[in-house]
Amino acid sequence: MEVIPSGGTHGAEIRGVDLSEPIDDVIFEAIMEAFHAHSVVVFRNQCLSEQDHVDFASRIGEIDNDVYGHFSHPDHNEIIILSNILDDDGNPIGVQEAGLFWHTDLAYTQTPSRASLLYSFEIPVADDGTVLGDTLFSNTAAAFDGLPDNIKSRIQGKTITNRHAYAYFKSGHGEQFKKSADALHDVIHPLVIKHPFTGRKILFCNEAMTVCINELTETESEQLLGFLVEHVKKPEFVYRHKWQVGDLLMWDNFPTQHSVDHNFKLPLRRRMQRITVRGSVPRSA
Ligand SMILES: [Fe+2]
Repeated sequence: MEVIPSGGTHGAEIRGVDLSEPIDDVIFEAIMEAFHAHSVVVFRNQCLSEQDHVDFASRIGEIDNDVYGHFSHPDHNEIIILSNILDDDGNPIGVQEAGLFWHTDLAYTQTPSRASLLYSFEIPVADDGTVLGDTLFSNTAAAFDGLPDNIKSRIQGKTITNRHAYAYFKSGHGEQFKKSADALHDVIHPLVIKHPFTGRKILFCNEAMTVCINELTETESEQLLGFLVEHVKKPEFVYRHKWQVGDLLMWDNFPTQHSVDHNFKLPLRRRMQRITVRGSVPRSA
């Protein structure tokens, strides 16, 4: 097994591992070490059955119950389909606009995902050969470190309210999440959290879900949140993943946020499958 860092703020490729084969404990520990060191890791050219995907995710931890039940894989409830493809009746086969806004997976629940594992089947490619639909990952530990001192002291000890698909509803894209949003309640998390394994401080508000900073007035909250959600998008914190068919991309949700470059549409098809591994309750840093 070989780990090749992206050269940026985080992200790495892991070579020499076939996830469809049994993985011994030594290799598994090495994978988890690389995962904690680089936060976003990709295994290229994988050929995985649904069961392979489930088996590898289960080895990391308990699989999250799927909140998008209507977009689950028909035979594997724990797998969610992300796709812009429509079936013969014109209905979406999966979540169509996943990642339109920057977010941390399941940060609208008490226990945001520890890990997300996304496997690609179809990737949109433009006529000139350009791969479209990149996924962007911000390193939100580095983003915290990069804040000015006066902002660091302003956000220390504050809490946030997160709501499922908040930015989608606010911008008129919420319909696809109506079913899941109706079933969920707002949650409160610390604004600055401590990584459960590395101990690093992490900026935890996000554009997609964070409604407000609870201890501030509405105007103060809007101004500060506006600054923070733009701060995490700065290029120096971002790794851009260029997809290939057969990528198994795995990321640590605590020290990262991600979004998708929605620069493609049908007839260009994008189809992926995601499994999330349950995390712990985020602790204040
Ligand atoms: Fe996501």
